[in-house]
Amino acid sequence: MKVLGIESSCDESAASIVEDGHKLLSNVIATQIEIHARFGGVVPEVASRQHLLQFIPVVRGALEQAELDWKDLDAVAVTQGPGLAGSLLVGINLAKSISFAHGIPFLGVNHLEGHIYANWLEGGQYDGEQREDPPFPLVALIASGGHTDIVLMNDYGTYRLIGRTRDDAAGEAFDKCARVLGLGFPGGPVIEQVARTAEGRAALPRPWMKGTHDFSFSGLKTAVLRLAESLRETPPSDARIAEIAAGFQDSVVEVLVGKTIAVANEVGAKAILMSGGVAANSVLRSEMVRQSPVPVYCPRPGLCTDNGAMIAACGYFRARTGHLSGLDMDVVPNLPLG
Ligand code: KG4
Ligand code: ZN
Repeated sequence: MKVLGIESSCDESAASIVEDGHKLLSNVIATQIEIHARFGGVVPEVASRQHLLQFIPVVRGALEQAELDWKDLDAVAVTQGPGLAGSLLVGINLAKSISFAHGIPFLGVNHLEGHIYANWLEGGQYDGEQREDPPFPLVALIASGGHTDIVLMNDYGTYRLIGRTRDDAAGEAFDKCARVLGLGFPGGPVIEQVARTAEGRAALPRPWMKGTHDFSFSGLKTAVLRLAESLRETPPSDARIAEIAAGFQDSVVEVLVGKTIAVANEVGAKAILMSGGVAANSVLRSEMVRQSPVPVYCPRPGLCTDNGAMIAACGYFRARTGHLSGLDMDVVPNLPLG
């Protein structure tokens, strides 16, 4: 079964074709990062207009790369939510048009569910190793720009939310920390890069939120802001900025890893899955791998951040259980998982 996956929840216009939820036949992403970087973050109105401009060539590119025609497709899967309403609308209307014009079944997919299924893609793991499909029960950490969730999966399509952020998402914290340090947008990749050059670590708190599996990153963000403000009195050196970036990254990594592994131990998970843009962070990944008592699955960086392949893979697993959507399906900007 060949599924075309369309993702437009934020600032990536992405389309991909995946066979049977595993085989990546094509993967095309038109990013808008440079446009939004000027504003220091994603501007929703700009994002939806940009999707309109770039999506048709992206979808054509996905067909060409896979050397397929419309008639070869068995389903079109699209992100229904969560995400920016205007951006989601562009992807959904595109998917509906394709479905209507070519008579191809259509289904809406949860973006967070999609992030998890990036771990089923063949050759999609960070180390390029071929793996068995992840075993159940498993614990999935979804860490992105909008979410930080720990989810228990006992089987395909079943999700129990065990922990979530009570304020900022991990990726949002990376983006805000980078902004106050004057490092630009998006924050995750640049913090990771700058932190590599650090010789020491700025002392920053670990937001453990004891007694709960939930997260809170806003206090850490304020602590970084205070340190950054103190730098204004003397000219900030690159070395000091690197120390703060490294201290911040260490704190986020320690808490994400510690809490995910605690949940995995508690529920007797057979695997830990990582997903979402923050999972592209190599320090987070290597610490999870080093500390986890069970196998860790993590997509390669390009499949951690938003892409169409994860939507196509997820669409396959939903479609095979008979889940299809009608053309009256609407966007759900705050769609919950499960
Ligand atoms: O999953 P994603 O592409 O979009 C959302 O669904 O939100 O995640 C984007 C987030 C951004 O906040 C970005 O700063 C963060 O993922 N990110 C990273 C890294 N690469 C992207 N965070 C930490 N380290 C990275 N290498
Ligand atoms: Zn995402």
